[in-house]
Amino acid sequence: MRDGGAAGVSWILLVICFMLAVPASIPREETAASAPAQIQAEPEMPVVALTFDDGPRAETTGRLLDELALREVPATFFLLGHRIPGNEDLVRRMGAEGHQIGVHTYDHVEVTGLSRADFDLQVGKTRSLLLDILGEGEFWLRPPYGITDAAARQWAGSPVVLWSVDPEDWKDHDVGRIVAGVVEHVQDGDIILLHDIYSSSVDAAVQIVDALQSRGYCFVTVEELLAWNGVTPQPGQVYRSGRG
Ligand code: NI
Repeated sequence: MRDGGAAGVSWILLVICFMLAVPASIPREETAASAPAQIQAEPEMPVVALTFDDGPRAETTGRLLDELALREVPATFFLLGHRIPGNEDLVRRMGAEGHQIGVHTYDHVEVTGLSRADFDLQVGKTRSLLLDILGEGEFWLRPPYGITDAAARQWAGSPVVLWSVDPEDWKDHDVGRIVAGVVEHVQDGDIILLHDIYSSSVDAAVQIVDALQSRGYCFVTVEELLAWNGVTPQPGQVYRSGRG
C-alpha cells in the first residue's frame, strides 16, 4: 500500500524513523535489549507531519528549532514574507536543519479574488526573499485560512498544503488543551497545524512530539509524508494529509 514512485524515499524514511523514534520511546537502560523486538513488532510505524504557520518570529521560532533539533524532528514551516527581513538566520537554520520551507503569503492575506499582480506580490515576492536567502527551493503554498480559488491554485505553481488536524492553538494558548487536541485525534498520515509565533504553541509542540514519539510515531516533512504514502505532488493540487 505504500509503494509507488517514491518507494526509495519511503525506505530511507523508515530507517530514519526507526533510528530516531525507537530509542526515544524506550527507557535508556532497556534500549539495547528491547529495540530489535520493538522494530519487528511495529513494521507499520505511523508517520505524520508537523507544520507551523505565520512565522518566523525570533522570540519563539528559535526555541522551537532548538527543541526540534534536540529530538531530530523535521517540520514544515510556512513563512510570512513580511516577517523574513531581520530573521534571515532563522530561515537559513531551517534549511540547514532539514526542515521544509513554504510560503504563507507576504501579509497573511486571503489569496482568493486577487489580481495576478497582487498574487505575485504576496506569493512570488515571498518566494523571491526565500530564494535570495537559500539559493534554491520550490516553497509550496499554504494559503491563509486554508482558502483558495481556481485562479490561486493555478498561479500557485506548487502543491497547495492544508491540514487534517487543527487544535486551534491561537484560541486560548492552553498548552494542555492543544496537546490533547492533537494527541487524542491524530492518525497515521495526518498533517498537524500549529503556529510558531506563540510560546504556548512551542511548548505544545514539544509535548506533542514527546507523546507521539513514545507511541512510535515518526515525524517527517510534508514532502516526505506524501512520498511515504506514494503520492506524487502536483502543482495546483490541494493536499490535506498524506492520504491525499
Ligand atoms: Ni496563518
